[in-house]
Amino acid sequence: MKRHESLIPLSQQHHSLLILAQLIKKDSPQYKGLPTNIPEKRIYTLNKFKEEIVPHFEAEELILIPFILGKNKRIDNLSEEIIIEHQKISEFVELVRSKVDIEENLDNLGKLLSGHIRKEERELFQLIQEIFSEEQLSKLLNQFSHLNKPKSC
Ligand SMILES: [Fe+2]
Ligand SMILES: [Fe+2]
Repeated sequence: MKRHESLIPLSQQHHSLLILAQLIKKDSPQYKGLPTNIPEKRIYTLNKFKEEIVPHFEAEELILIPFILGKNKRIDNLSEEIIIEHQKISEFVELVRSKVDIEENLDNLGKLLSGHIRKEERELFQLIQEIFSEEQLSKLLNQFSHLNKPKSC
């Protein structure tokens, strides 16, 4: 199913975060222009967390989830799982920040993040598009309008 335009900004962010998730797993391929060693991957991850993951989680928790809650049992359950996974992801980032088993915890973080994004893309977003009307989705789009603004040069 084609992604509805209301969910495209989040899907685009997922694409960027999936690359991060792949990069920090133990069996990671090399990505051109991206860090290749653990200390650099650690710094890269901490920057991505601050600049992309935190605002992304906020958009999901403060805009998307309040908008979709209370209409469908499966959506409600998924939303609950998603909030718990955000907390777990943040906890792994803090372990990486504190230099606790960095390689192991980057790997854990990568696996958790990619599984999380897959769940949102393949289950939650699909369900949202099946259950919500075009009219409701365009209201969601309005709420997300700040995410669509081009980055200032
Ligand atoms: Fe999420
Ligand atoms: Fe997400």
